[in-house]
Amino acid sequence: MSDLVKVELRDGILDIVLNRPDKKNALTADMYRALVAAFHLGNAEAAARVILIRGQESAFTAGNDLGDFLNNPPQDMDAPVMQLLRLLPGIAKPLVAAVGGPAVGIGTTLLLHCDYVVAADNARFQLPFVNLGLCAEGASSFLLPLLVGQRRAAELLLLGEPFGAAQALDMGLANKVGAPNELVAAAEEVAAKLAAKPAAAVRATKQLMKGHWADAVRNAVDAEARQFMERLSSPEAKEAFQAFLEKRQPDFSRCG
Ligand code: COA
Repeated sequence: MSDLVKVELRDGILDIVLNRPDKKNALTADMYRALVAAFHLGNAEAAARVILIRGQESAFTAGNDLGDFLNNPPQDMDAPVMQLLRLLPGIAKPLVAAVGGPAVGIGTTLLLHCDYVVAADNARFQLPFVNLGLCAEGASSFLLPLLVGQRRAAELLLLGEPFGAAQALDMGLANKVGAPNELVAAAEEVAAKLAAKPAAAVRATKQLMKGHWADAVRNAVDAEARQFMERLSSPEAKEAFQAFLEKRQPDFSRCG
């Protein structure tokens, strides 16, 4: 396992920790590979009754590494990020997330696949895909309208503005909000409760809930992924990534 993604199994909980705090846990191809391996382990290992994913109090994840998007973009469905996005809907065990600080891009769309989300009151969610010349990913074009309604989903996905923990709670994206220094303990408490339950009953109930739209979710992941990969090489996206790396505002008038 990579040092940038720490994985530990204890007391029935597979604890996955994103560990690149100096870059706000921006995700690289290697980190996606480690996450894919960790989720496979979670599915396969009987002793893992619950999966917990978290970063630090100060950052969940700033989303895909934008340098990687510019220099090493995913080219096909075998790319590590695409493998992860295709795997998320099929996670059989309950998935709990602890979110503090930025949860950008996949940092928010991943939460749509979680069963319980604890947010710290410093959490800052954002779906900036359009602002980056990209499009929805991770089945968010399907799951977000389902969760928050078409009107609010359009606002979040088209305007791409950040929103806080109170709004996430109000929209049902988070179950619970607390102080940053209590974030991990609160998420571990929920994970421990789930781990103590009859595991097969928990899995059956999760599967039944997700089963109603499982095909639609898989289709959405793939349709979004195809457009997303096309958009990654668009002049708009390249300008947005370059501008971020150069710490300036993008100028889309250059993109025709
Ligand atoms: N890709 C690559 N590097 C990233 C990154 C990303 N997605 N997000 C943050 N970083 C890096 C910054 O470049 C900075 O690096 P540096 O110290 O070498 O300059 C470091 O992480 C800290 O980020 P910074 O922007 O200084 O922190 P902040 O608290 O002011 O802002 C964010 C945090 C998350 C709001 C801001 O970094 C951001 O908007 N990141 C891009 C998010 C994004 O668009 N993700 C892609 C979604 S598809």
